Amino acid sequence: MITAPTNDSIREAAVQLSAGKVVAFPTETVYGLGADAFNASAVAKVFELKGRPATNPLIVHIASVEDLAKVALLPLPLTIEERLWKVSALWPGPLSVVLPAAPQLPAIVRAGLPTVAVRIPSHSAARRLLAEFGGAIAAPSANISNYVSATTAQHVEEAFGPAGIMVLDGGPCRVGMESTIISLDGENPRLLRPGSVSLEQLQLLLGPIDFRISADPEGSPAISPGRLSSHYAPRTPIAFADSVERERLPQRVGLIAFSEQRLHSFDYAAIDTLSSCADYDEVARNLFAAMRRQDRLGLELILVDRCGAAGIGLAIMDRLKRAMGQGASAAIVDQLPRTRSQGELRREVGNG
Ligand code: TXA
Ligand code: MG
Repeated sequence: MITAPTNDSIREAAVQLSAGKVVAFPTETVYGLGADAFNASAVAKVFELKGRPATNPLIVHIASVEDLAKVALLPLPLTIEERLWKVSALWPGPLSVVLPAAPQLPAIVRAGLPTVAVRIPSHSAARRLLAEFGGAIAAPSANISNYVSATTAQHVEEAFGPAGIMVLDGGPCRVGMESTIISLDGENPRLLRPGSVSLEQLQLLLGPIDFRISADPEGSPAISPGRLSSHYAPRTPIAFADSVERERLPQRVGLIAFSEQRLHSFDYAAIDTLSSCADYDEVARNLFAAMRRQDRLGLELILVDRCGAAGIGLAIMDRLKRAMGQGASAAIVDQLPRTRSQGELRREVGNG
């Protein structure tokens, strides 16, 4: 049931969370399927609704840094605390941070790990819901496990409407791609999932960051289980537009283009143009909706443009590679902005 985020419906959603029910809500990244993080049976419903393996932990959403004491094990080790203090400049926002978990946080939320991924979202409806609820909300992306994340209330309704879930409608998500995830322990912090908070931004704040782009091999205990290579996949096969010879294309092919000025040499059955001028924030915002739309057209193949791996381009390429079931390849590693100096990075990030 889709509901506008009025004061009444926010209050009703908070009541439902307190009663152990599941509620879908917007964030600036993607929609979340939320439950009271401290109610293990409510959290179990989230896993069940999504068909999510119990080995894949959830992100816990809180209203403010004061609430960290509820979900993380304080005091934090000094290195982690210093790093957290630096990246907390990006909160509220599309960044999740992996921290030592408070022992009272139910094991199901963190899939038995000693850590918890924490996020303070910036979307106004999410913030109002968190404030009204007064607790912590465990919420994965509001899609059936392994399908493309939901960036509109309608996407959520398609999957969970039949289960009678309340869906707060915050409009299309501004970022459109899941949050950046960073782990702060270890010699260097580790980027676990690229997102709109870019690797370059994080490097500016934290210095060197480890980033292993390759997906964890299927079946191995994953460092961040969402990095399994099969994630975010539409059912229709998908490939980069420049990787397939025209002569070998099947009849019904869709194109997801990054710019209006793109030249076509093929009669596509469907075209989605994500941005008028290859603005990659716009591409990220519109990508999942286009993948979902074309996936319903009975196409034999979806072709998609590619971009460089700087800034949000890294997240776009990461999600596309995963949609192609390849995990991320060496092609992305080649483009990683590793060799640039801090000065260069500062200029680029400053302009972007
Ligand atoms: O933008 C987002 O992050 C959205 C919104 C709703 O907040 N949520 C989201 O959740 O994308 P989900 O469940 O689709 O992805 C969460 C990712 C998974 O890859 C999971 O493995 C990882 O976070 N994760 C959660 N807890 C973790 C932990 N303790 N250590 C490492 N990775 C963790
Ligand atoms: Mg997800």
